[in-house]
Amino acid sequence: MKYILLPIFCMICLACETQTRSTQRESASQATLSQKALQGKQLFTEHCIACHQLEQRLVGPALKGVQQRHDTAWLIAFIQNSQKKIEAGDEKAIAIYEEYDKLVMPSFEYLTEEEIQAILTYIDEASGE
Ligand code: HEC
Repeated sequence: MKYILLPIFCMICLACETQTRSTQRESASQATLSQKALQGKQLFTEHCIACHQLEQRLVGPALKGVQQRHDTAWLIAFIQNSQKKIEAGDEKAIAIYEEYDKLVMPSFEYLTEEEIQAILTYIDEASGE
C-alpha cells in the first residue's frame, strides 16, 4: 500500500506547485505593464488582435519591436490610414503592402494619437519581456 500512495502523493504536490508558479507569473507580467500600456493592451485586444500578434505573423506582420523599424510619427500616420501613406508614395508603406499581398489594413482614424501611443507603449513593454 505504501508503494502506491507515495507516487500519488508526489504527483499531487507537483501539480500544486506548478499551479502556484503559473499564477505568480501571470500577476508578475500584469504588474510590469504601466498604466498606459494596460490601456494600450485593451485597445490592441479590441482593434488589432484579429490580424496581429506580437511574436508571429498572422494576417499582418508580428508587431514585436515595430518601433525599431519605424518612427512614432510614421506609425501613427500608418495606423490611422495606411492607404493614404501608400497612395502618397511612402516607400516603406508600399514595401509592406506588397509583402502582404496587397491586403488592405483597415484605417483607424477614430483612434486618437494618444490612444495609438498607448498601443505602441503596450507593444514596446510587452516586446521587452
Ligand atoms: C484586418 C486586418 C488588420 C487589422 C484589424 C489591423 N491590421 Fe495592421 N496590418 C495589416 C496588414 C495586412 C498589414 C501589412 C501592410 C499592408 O498590407 O498594408 C499591417 C501592417 C501594420 C503595421 C506595419 C508593421 C511593420 O512591420 O512594418 C503596423 C504598425 C500595424 N499594422 C499596426 C496595427 C494596429 C496598431 C492595429 C490596431 C489598431 C492594426 N494594425 C489592425 C492588417 C491589419
